Amino acid sequence: MIHFNPETKTFNLLLKSSYYAFQADAENCLVHLGWGPRPGGTNEEFLLTGKSGYETSDVEAFERQTRRDELITFGDVSYHEVSLKVNFSTLPETLNPGEFPHLPIRDVRLRYAGHEIVTTAQPGLAPTHGQPPAKSDIRETLRVFLQDPVQPFRVVLCYRLTPEHDIIERWCELENLGQELITIEVCSFATLHLPNGTCELTSVTGAWGREFTPQRERLPLGLRILESRTVQTSHAANPFFLLNRPGQAWEESGVVYFGLLAYSGNWRIAVEQLSSLDVRIHAGYNPFDFELKLAPHQRHVTPALVCGLSCDGWGGASRRSHAFTRERVLPRPERDSSVRPVLYNSWEATYFDLSVAGQIELARKAAAIGVELFCVDDGWFGARRTDHAGLGDWVVSPAVFPEGLDPLIAEVNRLGMKFGLWVEPEMINPDSDLYRQHPDWVLHFPGRPRTEARHQLILDFGRTEVVEYIFQALDRLLAQYPIEFFKWDMNRYAREPGSVAGKDIWRKHVEGVYTIMDRLRQKYPKLDIQSCSGGGGRIDLGILARTDQVWTSDNTDALDRIRIQEGYSLAYPARCMEAWVTHAHNHQTGRISPLSLRFDVAMRGALGIGASLNELDETELAEYASYIAFYKRIRHVIQDGDLYRLQRLEEYGASVIQYVLPNGREAVYSIAVREHQMGWFRPPTPLKGLDPAAAYVVLDRHGAEVYRASGYELMTQGIRGDAGQGVAYSRTLYVKQI
Ligand code: DGJ
Repeated sequence: MIHFNPETKTFNLLLKSSYYAFQADAENCLVHLGWGPRPGGTNEEFLLTGKSGYETSDVEAFERQTRRDELITFGDVSYHEVSLKVNFSTLPETLNPGEFPHLPIRDVRLRYAGHEIVTTAQPGLAPTHGQPPAKSDIRETLRVFLQDPVQPFRVVLCYRLTPEHDIIERWCELENLGQELITIEVCSFATLHLPNGTCELTSVTGAWGREFTPQRERLPLGLRILESRTVQTSHAANPFFLLNRPGQAWEESGVVYFGLLAYSGNWRIAVEQLSSLDVRIHAGYNPFDFELKLAPHQRHVTPALVCGLSCDGWGGASRRSHAFTRERVLPRPERDSSVRPVLYNSWEATYFDLSVAGQIELARKAAAIGVELFCVDDGWFGARRTDHAGLGDWVVSPAVFPEGLDPLIAEVNRLGMKFGLWVEPEMINPDSDLYRQHPDWVLHFPGRPRTEARHQLILDFGRTEVVEYIFQALDRLLAQYPIEFFKWDMNRYAREPGSVAGKDIWRKHVEGVYTIMDRLRQKYPKLDIQSCSGGGGRIDLGILARTDQVWTSDNTDALDRIRIQEGYSLAYPARCMEAWVTHAHNHQTGRISPLSLRFDVAMRGALGIGASLNELDETELAEYASYIAFYKRIRHVIQDGDLYRLQRLEEYGASVIQYVLPNGREAVYSIAVREHQMGWFRPPTPLKGLDPAAAYVVLDRHGAEVYRASGYELMTQGIRGDAGQGVAYSRTLYVKQI
């Protein structure tokens, strides 16, 4: 509910278990009042009147550096971090005595000028493919108009509420109301103010093959920046945060603030802790090499910062963002099935060594073990026999597929599977027909080197003709063949970002990617898309709004995956987390893992198979089939249930997780031990979210009963049997009400 008190000019946003409040003060500055748990009961009266209960800022304070503006701008605040910095090239109508007409004026002050509540507002870069998410009931958005008193510039602060998950989406609309160009230097989507001392930060770091490594730190005074400067979301960081007061939040208790950016380009989350211990967050476009020009009467709508509050610790924050992503972000059109299919991907089986016969042989084996979607990876097009050539030439290679893709797709479909294909549309090899025709179509600075990475360059999506060309190339493929899945890859960072779009290329690139995806999805409603960027380099709420699943990491080693997936789970749901079972002898790490561990870890997300099925004997294939059949019985719980991290890797050397349906009737329990020492006794872990009064049976993969207990017993004593097990021990159990 959005409540406005006209007497005090106080706004109260009331969500399920949290509130968010701000006020236009005597000078019409929009000042933050508070964000926290709802007190409930009669105490809520003060939330609505705005007469008391908040720590109001002192507008007379020295230089206003500590005033908690809802959007902190360079102008009102000068030496702390700001969310908005603008260059005006319009002089005021009259100059005061002593003023000299120098330009640009780098000063913006925003004052409250009215508001409205609407139900149709959308943040920038919202998907346009028209495929609805699981829930699309009406949500209220508060739009607060802020006007610069002198300059022809208006900002609309937007707050869209998803009360059931305590989530507010924040974004800004920036509008040039004048006749001169306005240049924006710094542009966050929102400023957030947290109660002072909220300085324990949980985020992730990493690299290729080591994405989503969780880190928890106590922030010192000053600035802490999380960011990407690579043109995609990044392997080294991910645009989300969890923040709490140190020692006052744990996995399942305490107040935790969280935020995620719905944007896949250069982003920045700047957390500043002032000497007053006030904590502010500026989250949005990365100001690194950034410039946004607003032509006369032009409006720019930023993407959203999705933020929320959990009263149930880090786990509660994750569950809220998972549910929000499942219900409001991921496209979920009516399809033949509401669960993600079991995938086979041929990359690790064949790499570039593709042939029709080889793929058909794999497809037959894949279908026999229960695979539902068969995806051919890199190497099927142009001169792409190695990673040195071919990117950009999106035509089926007659050398590999003499009769085109038809014979293979026909066989895949006959076997009852959907057909998928790998593409890397933003990239080009200099050794390609496209590059030979259009050497000017790549990011580069004239007279400077074009540095290749993996022998490739990045197409200049600042050019509309390039974006159109790539759309047409993919469109032709989809028109010709019944392709139902694209694995959309992106395998390098930007190095020389020269473009016809100037500094705006960072943003334009993302816009181009989103536009192509949206147009394809709109035209081909049966098409699913996987976001891959050398593994997990492009996972965020912006890309998830137009894709169905993401490739979490190129590292498929099960023991490494336990950690990668746990870090991923801090922010993103299992439903779209693609996880493959690959070879016993892992191709990335060389480690040997048992099949049970590989399946138990991969079954925690959207299961895929990446092993070479030709190397497996009949017994092994039967084991694969048995696991896949089990996964199909439990995947609705994994893909749509609430996640509880019962034991976290960093504390226990093992990861024990549980997915449970919101009605508490079905759950999946999964343990995977990573660090084992003799004598490390592991007592059973109590489960969560069950009905204490109901009876449950716990089943193994073969349907055999391993335990029977009441919900109360399971939630106080857990499931026995995991004590004293060795390294790489794992098991997955299905918990079902009877
Ligand atoms: C990187 C991806 O992450 C891999 O899965 C594979 O598709 C290769 N690219 C293909 O070049």
